[in-house]
Amino acid sequence: IHNAFKHMIEAHALAANFYSHLLLNTVEGEEALQYLEKRGFTRESIEKYGIGWSLNDREALTALLKRKSYDMKDMERAGLCIMKDDGTGYFDRFRGRIMFPLRDDNGNVIAFSGRILSGGKQEAKYLNSPETPIFEKSQILYNFNNARLNVRKTGKVILFEGFMDTIAADRVGVTNSVAVMGTSLSDTHLVKLKRIAKDIIICCDGDDAGWEAAKRFAHLISKKGMEVQIALLPGSMDPDDYIAEYGGDAFREKIIDNPHSFMSFIMAYAKRFKNLSYENDVLQYIHEVLEELTLRSSPVERDLYVRQLSTETNVSVDAIHQQFIKMAGQQA
Ligand code: UTP
Ligand code: MN
Ligand code: MN
Ligand code: MN
Ligand code: MN
Repeated sequence: IHNAFKHMIEAHALAANFYSHLLLNTVEGEEALQYLEKRGFTRESIEKYGIGWSLNDREALTALLKRKSYDMKDMERAGLCIMKDDGTGYFDRFRGRIMFPLRDDNGNVIAFSGRILSGGKQEAKYLNSPETPIFEKSQILYNFNNARLNVRKTGKVILFEGFMDTIAADRVGVTNSVAVMGTSLSDTHLVKLKRIAKDIIICCDGDDAGWEAAKRFAHLISKKGMEVQIALLPGSMDPDDYIAEYGGDAFREKIIDNPHSFMSFIMAYAKRFKNLSYENDVLQYIHEVLEELTLRSSPVERDLYVRQLSTETNVSVDAIHQQFIKMAGQQA
């Protein structure tokens, strides 16, 4: 078993080198390289993150692994190859995709995520390695190994939902960021982050899925006893879009260094699709904010946000306070 693990990790290193070579040094990789350049990737970040290209060929990696005498059964279990339907052999899992190595906390490549060049109507935009003996998605935070030192130094970690966002942020000098792969944040992720950081700044995509993920993450982090803040992006941009459009200085100054507190985010979230000149929206708004506020115990926070709600809605502080007491009583 132990040996099989070792071979799986070795094979991933070999595959990462192979994909990187195809991207950087071959004619077949040119289109992908141009795509990355158009998206703002520098040669430096391509090399730092070990990005590559998998050929449009069914057996490019499989042939290499066989040549190096790897046990193909292990390679299948490692997620690199897939057995043919008729059982006569194997073919490559990843073909015609830009390859992003996923690493464990020691920097070993243990899986891949592959992006198609086009928008992705027919196929999934990203194809990921399956769960394998060496890769558990809920354990892995993209860039954890690179960011660790800077996170410890600053006590702060930025959490993105996509690894493209981390790579873009790193390029403009935000070096203390990690990404989950999509919208699930596990307890293992939280334990890892809590060990090295006091504060987390969530910076999810500005679309609906991103707002919802941010709210979910904020609750989980706050329950874990960490300080959480939420950086919001305009419109439905994601961090990578924002950096491409407005640059790194704006990203740092306006977004990352200007995050919302938990309650201020909750208020922005609750207001998102409401018009506070409608009575119904006002009632609903106050209700949603108080629901969160009753879960938080600090009297200072209560006072602060009750007064803020009153200013925003023209409902008296006293009435909102009464409502708070009533709702808090129902919860108890
Ligand atoms: P996004 O759709 O926000 O990706 O998904 P992105 O980072 O903005 O990618 P670009 O800019 O369009 O290239 C966020 C994360 O969700 C996972 C990936 O890990 C991605 O980083 N995801 C998304 C998948 O696993 N599969 C998909 O098809 C889409
Ligand atoms: Mn998204
Ligand atoms: Mn995104
Ligand atoms: Mn996108
Ligand atoms: Mn994006």
